[in-house]
Amino acid sequence: MATHPTPAETGGAGVRRYYDANTWKFLLTGSQRALHRELWGPGVTTRAEAVHHTHDLVLAELGAADRRVLDLGCGVGTAALYVARRRPVDVVGVSISPAQVRLARRYADRSGPLLGDVRFAVADFTDLPDELTGFDLAFAIESFVHADPAPAFFREVACALRPGGALVVVDDVRTTDTADRRIVDFCDGWHVSSLLTVAEAAALAAGAGLRLVDSRDLSPMQRLGRPRDRVVRALQPVLRRARGRSAWADSMVGGDALQRCHRAGLLEYRLLRFVREAD
Ligand SMILES: C[S@@+](CC[C@H](N)C(=O)[O-])C[C@H]1O[C@@H](n2cnc3c(N)ncnc32)[C@H](O)[C@@H]1O
Repeated sequence: MATHPTPAETGGAGVRRYYDANTWKFLLTGSQRALHRELWGPGVTTRAEAVHHTHDLVLAELGAADRRVLDLGCGVGTAALYVARRRPVDVVGVSISPAQVRLARRYADRSGPLLGDVRFAVADFTDLPDELTGFDLAFAIESFVHADPAPAFFREVACALRPGGALVVVDDVRTTDTADRRIVDFCDGWHVSSLLTVAEAAALAAGAGLRLVDSRDLSPMQRLGRPRDRVVRALQPVLRRARGRSAWADSMVGGDALQRCHRAGLLEYRLLRFVREAD
């Protein structure tokens, strides 16, 4: 039986195997147990702050009276714990990867005092359990691009939110429909199924009753071409030969392609905020 997905494999099963196989490696090379990129926003001076800058952007979207939060594609629970440490909210985190949910529960057990509560479950955000309803805020940090298909993601989130509740997506979006090998390499390497333009995302969300109310370009806060990125660039000939046989090589090829897409302006890294319309 294959222990890793092939680059061409799409859908929840491939994404699950990709994260089950790779999460511990991402944690070894990453920072703060987060599986998203660093954002060097205003006032950020350390890697830890750069990781948490995304969490702070999400926190800023939480209303004063909001109590129920849903983390869609929660990784190992870092964002959920960050939020629950700072606000008296109940956070439910869902991931398609059982390995991640096991880690998230372990980290939650050792997290120390929280102002709120956290709970983690294995679930597919394109087919959420019926009991996940009435949330004030849902957020998806670098997970929406895995949605397969994207309309199901928006439909399920709309059902999970209360009327007036908000969805915050932080992720890569296309700036153009032009076919480009670099985009294909990124999508194959990172198991990306839904790389949309903002207009496409807005139209699909509107179909589910979610109105796009804010779109912010975070791309300038990224750091491209760090020393490790240059090493990965230099290793591309070897990594490309291992593609399809190593989930790690797939992710390194995808990550290099992502950097080249951003440098070429083919992608932007954006925060999109949607509001669920009243019934
Ligand atoms: C790049 S990781 C980001 C994790 C986390 N948001 C963070 O920033 O650390 C993508 C996440 O999306 C989750 N994911 C991908 N497809 C999913 C699906 N269909 N349902 C639920 N989670 C999914 C993965 O399991 C993983 O947790």
